[in-house]
Amino acid sequence: MTDLLVIGASGLLGEHLLADAKRRRLDAVGTYAGDPVNGLIPLNLSDLVAAVTLVRDRHPKTVLLPAAMTGVDACESHPDQAQLVNADAPREIAKACHTLGIRLVFFSTDYVFDGRRGPFNERRRPQPLNVYGRTKLAGERNVLAAHPEALVVRTSANFGWGRARKKTNSVTWILELLRRRQPVPLFTDQRVSPSYAPAAARTAFDLLDRRATGIFHVATRSYPTRFEMGLEICDVFGLEKGLLKAARLAEAELRARRPSDSSLDVGKVERFLDKRSPTFREALEDMRDTE
Ligand SMILES: NC(=O)c1ccc[n+]([C@@H]2O[C@H](COP(=O)([O-])OP(=O)(O)OC[C@H]3O[C@@H](n4cnc5c(N)ncnc54)[C@H](OP(=O)(O)O)[C@@H]3O)[C@@H](O)[C@H]2O)c1
Repeated sequence: MTDLLVIGASGLLGEHLLADAKRRRLDAVGTYAGDPVNGLIPLNLSDLVAAVTLVRDRHPKTVLLPAAMTGVDACESHPDQAQLVNADAPREIAKACHTLGIRLVFFSTDYVFDGRRGPFNERRRPQPLNVYGRTKLAGERNVLAAHPEALVVRTSANFGWGRARKKTNSVTWILELLRRRQPVPLFTDQRVSPSYAPAAARTAFDLLDRRATGIFHVATRSYPTRFEMGLEICDVFGLEKGLLKAARLAEAELRARRPSDSSLDVGKVERFLDKRSPTFREALEDMRDTE
């Protein structure tokens, strides 16, 4: 019997979840949706029947579901597709998992919040500003309604080394531009709590080991603005700070609205696991040392 199915193992978080599973010597399989990735099996969540069939056929002990339509502006342009992938597919997967006695972890986002008065703890009322946030919140609610023992892990501005895909993330795009000696526009009025993918993956397994259910915020314990993220990256990687250009979210012409402070309070997970979350700087130092 398969121990674990990671739906979306080609993504940044999924890749680290699968790597952690292998380190734990679990019999794990993962899926991709775009270009084929060696060792992974295809699954597009737009096909709800295929998603449920895969869960039934593999019948793992646990399903991890980091797969999502993560492009915030793409979700705004294609709301029906975002609803299907981020909300409807998780509901069908949760129903199947509940019926078959399979544990489920659904990964969600800080963008369920409106960004007024962060950091947000798990008791704060979500109020998304965009289609991405609304569909992910619907996904959370669908999952917990269909499978009350499911675990929902919210992360923010995910970052880390991603080997499966060339896609950049909240830190690697800054690093890439700086290393090419190109200017990097960064918001001084948007605050997040960046989630380090390897640490978030480890925490998800720790929560599973401790039989956690319900919603947990998993991130670094820092709340930098995007510009402050750039400064810290320059410090840790020894890069030129002069290339960082202050920009303002309030003046940016983006298709989807973004919260100005969606940082996450990680007190609950720290108390539950009796373990301090890394700071953003500690996570960057780990990235530097593992490049
Ligand atoms: N990215 C962020 O900054 C961020 C911030 C907060 C929360 N989150 C949440 O964290 C989770 C993981 O995100 P990530 O950072 O790992 O994102 P990512 O690198 O963009 O990975 C997304 C994953 O979803 C898969 N996927 C996309 N569309 C799919 C579809 N139609 N059917 C099946 N799979 C599909 C992708 O597969 P392919 O690569 O094969 O297309 C990939 O494996 C998501 O639930 C996201 O909402 C992300």
